[in-house]
Amino acid sequence: VKIAVISQDKAYLEEVARILKGTDASFQPDLFVGDSDRMAAVAEQSHADLLVLDQICEDARQLAALEQLLPLHPGMAVIMLSRNQSSDFLIQAMRAGVREVLPAPADPNALLDAISRVQKRIASVASRAKGKVLAFIPCKGGSGATFLAANLGYALAAAEHKSVALIDLNLQFGDAFLFVSDRPAPFNLSDVVRQIQRLDASFLASSMISVLPNFGVLAAPDEPESLVTIKPEHIELLLNVAINHYDYVILDIGRVLDAVSIKAMDHANVIFPVLQLTLPFVRDAKRLASVFRALGYPEDRLSMIVNRFEKGEITLDDVEKTVGLKVFRTIPNRFASVAASINQGVPIVKLAPRDPVSKALEALAHDLVHGTGEHHGWLKGLLHLE
Ligand SMILES: Nc1ncnc2c1ncn2[C@@H]1O[C@H](COP(=O)(O)OP(=O)(O)OP(=O)(O)O)[C@@H](O)[C@H]1O
Ligand SMILES: [Mg+2]
Repeated sequence: VKIAVISQDKAYLEEVARILKGTDASFQPDLFVGDSDRMAAVAEQSHADLLVLDQICEDARQLAALEQLLPLHPGMAVIMLSRNQSSDFLIQAMRAGVREVLPAPADPNALLDAISRVQKRIASVASRAKGKVLAFIPCKGGSGATFLAANLGYALAAAEHKSVALIDLNLQFGDAFLFVSDRPAPFNLSDVVRQIQRLDASFLASSMISVLPNFGVLAAPDEPESLVTIKPEHIELLLNVAINHYDYVILDIGRVLDAVSIKAMDHANVIFPVLQLTLPFVRDAKRLASVFRALGYPEDRLSMIVNRFEKGEITLDDVEKTVGLKVFRTIPNRFASVAASINQGVPIVKLAPRDPVSKALEALAHDLVHGTGEHHGWLKGLLHLE
């Protein structure tokens, strides 16, 4: 564990270092003599897992600076030793993301106890395998990306017993939760972003609609102002928290390519461009593929899904040649059952388990989890399956 300690008291720093090293050889304390103006540089340079601030940031203005700093270092926990123990101050410190506040001057042994508590929490998160991020993007409006994202999420949770978060990133016209839920969304992405300092697993879970105990949906914002308030940094933080707590994080990207959607796709293990077998879709798929190329996304991370598939004039071979990407899957065209599922807000796998679309979604979920099927080797590498 890398521990950075900032204090104005050199003797105290040395005593802490001595006790830390004497307790556990894996503790590597980095000591900094200084005040709150050193925080940003120390956080940046030390790559610490844990930052201890001794009698630093004890007023509201400095605490606000800390609050701005912490989202930039999501992997770093903070313990404060403070003479200020007023409840207002403690609440503000917790809001800023501080894990523990001990009264200062702190007995180094009390500090050691706090460090081992925080360390245990860090370890329990780190020992968990990180979740996989799957991004669905329509090559053109109405291709079925939202339907597939929402229903694949349900299939992974219901049939494969994985924990799944579906995050609706259609900031303007998001409606993904309505595909799998008939209830209104109590909170949405903009509520999370508004309180981003509070973001942790339980806050995220409580902001989602729980479709199943192991399947939650974070709805898209419902007011247009959030278009400007939601920033790529927020998405980064959100995904960092989500992959630590869910086996699969499914993103419904929408048609707008902007800084937010690109940040989201940067974090995806697999991107699924969704299209249908008509020329306008194929043309837009080709454009999208060239955008991906410009963004530097490797081809093996891009897996086209042909939705509403029926044999016709255009073949899958034609699509692959024109677009320059592999077709990973096809999903059959079943208007009546898909429309019934969407209209009722009931996942198709639940509403019509024998429908060919349900079968295709369950097979897709199975392959993603077990790495079976014809894309065996490819999936294994991409999703780090053992
Ligand atoms: N496999 C399918 N068979 C028949 N109809 C389908 C199928 N998949 C989707 N649809 C139809 O396509 C419509 C559009 O689907 P969806 O809203 O998921 O598309 P989208 O790509 O997310 O579009 P948008 O760009 O508007 O977000 C649905 O309302 C549904 O009726
Ligand atoms: Mg959509």
